[in-house]
Amino acid sequence: MKIIVRDNYKEMSQEAFRLFRESLRDSSVIGFATGSTPNLLYSMISNECRAGNISFKGKSSFNLDEYYPISRGSPESYRRYMEENLFRNIDINRDMINFPDSMMDEDETVRRYLDAYRRSGPVGTQILGIGHNGHIGFNEPGSARDSEIRIVRLSEDTISRNKTRMSMAVTMGIKEIMESTRIILLASGTEKSESIKRAVKGRVTGDVPASFLQEHENTTFVLDREAARLL
Ligand code: PGA
Repeated sequence: MKIIVRDNYKEMSQEAFRLFRESLRDSSVIGFATGSTPNLLYSMISNECRAGNISFKGKSSFNLDEYYPISRGSPESYRRYMEENLFRNIDINRDMINFPDSMMDEDETVRRYLDAYRRSGPVGTQILGIGHNGHIGFNEPGSARDSEIRIVRLSEDTISRNKTRMSMAVTMGIKEIMESTRIILLASGTEKSESIKRAVKGRVTGDVPASFLQEHENTTFVLDREAARLL
């Protein structure tokens, strides 16, 4: 695992964008994450795509997770976040966007996303954030290394930090995340420093799902100084 530290959120996002652009050339499948951390990265990707400097033509995407159950138009839905922050700004073919359909019953939601993944995965370049509790996607503490796409119950910590009333989600598993060729994980702010320390320097354990990335061959953590404070 490689670690890059930049002074602040803006410089962290610029560095992540540089790595993303480089990696985009060789990746036909892109994995996106939601959350506040990639906001600026997504706005940079949007601007560069509008300017014609990068293109998603011929590429497909998967998203890491989505609340369950939720409609795609709901203000809280990750689908909506992606539409507003990225998809509507880039030239990706709409049919190539893979997203959990969170309105089906549980088995059907999982089956459809797994089928899509088996047909069109794995991911070439995966953007990741990290939770305060070390989660990646909605793989909460206690997730297994071989966990696959599934419905999960959110931890109390995640529910309160996300200020949501949703208590369940559908997420890609650790297994699918680890199958990505290249992973770019972003973290910003002191409140992420403890989970970054445990992910990077701690034991590899399902108690800190991001620690599994120590065993991934091509992962780069892009951090601002505050998130890297305890390294
Ligand atoms: P955040 O979420 O970017 O909003 O901090 C990251 C995560 O929980 O994975």
